[in-house]
Amino acid sequence: MKILLISASPRGQSSTTLRLAREVARATQALVSEVQLSQLRIGFCQACNFCHRKIMNCPLKDDAFSVLHKMLESDGIILATPNYLNQVTGPLKTLMDRSSHFVHCLRLLGKYVAGVVTSGGGQDEPVLNYLKEYANFCGAQYSGGVSAQATAAFEKFALASNLGQRLAEDIQKKSVYPEQARLIEKLKKHFGQLIELRKNEWVEEYAYWKKQLSLQ
Ligand SMILES: Cc1cc2nc3c(=O)[nH]c(=O)nc-3n(C[C@H](O)[C@H](O)[C@H](O)COP(=O)(O)O)c2cc1C
Repeated sequence: MKILLISASPRGQSSTTLRLAREVARATQALVSEVQLSQLRIGFCQACNFCHRKIMNCPLKDDAFSVLHKMLESDGIILATPNYLNQVTGPLKTLMDRSSHFVHCLRLLGKYVAGVVTSGGGQDEPVLNYLKEYANFCGAQYSGGVSAQATAAFEKFALASNLGQRLAEDIQKKSVYPEQARLIEKLKKHFGQLIELRKNEWVEEYAYWKKQLSLQ
């Protein structure tokens, strides 16, 4: 079982969010790899649609797609971000924007995501909800989230550990969260129709759809 921890704090090893996320990762008892977005060069999406024509390709030659490939190779993904103005940090949003092919082709189907958020004030629900929404939009199910006020993050270590265990169990048992599964089915229908409409333009996404998704 492979787990990828994506840390979106700019504070490196000092990040409280990363510490909490490592507790989630530890509890999965799986093989964990870690990516710190602040150490990478990830540029803004230019909306050129190239990645829809040639999948897993982009004219920007930076580190975005190496992270996206790691996501594809994982069974579970831990998205860890501080709350910045009730949103994920800029580097994580930038990575998400670069992953629009994942949304069109539900590339994270069958995978599970856990969310980890810390903040100064503790009002983290909107950020966790956004992580869940992103996971579902990419076809993944969301095992749950843990959040903490930075000054008391250690109090949430037990919850983080529970979340890690749940993530591992979901992967092993291929759990189905019915409400999320229904949403993913709806999204699949929507993007299937969109790609059918644009099939002459988004050639490789159309081919992927035909081969991998049409029969599911
Ligand atoms: C640019 C910026 C925006 C922030 N916005 C919020 C916010 O809207 N609400 C909040 O409670 N804390 C906010 N914080 C505080 C961080 O979320 C908090 O310190 C967090 O625990 C930092 O995590 P880290 O140690 O993993 O980097 C903000 C911090 C920064 C630098």
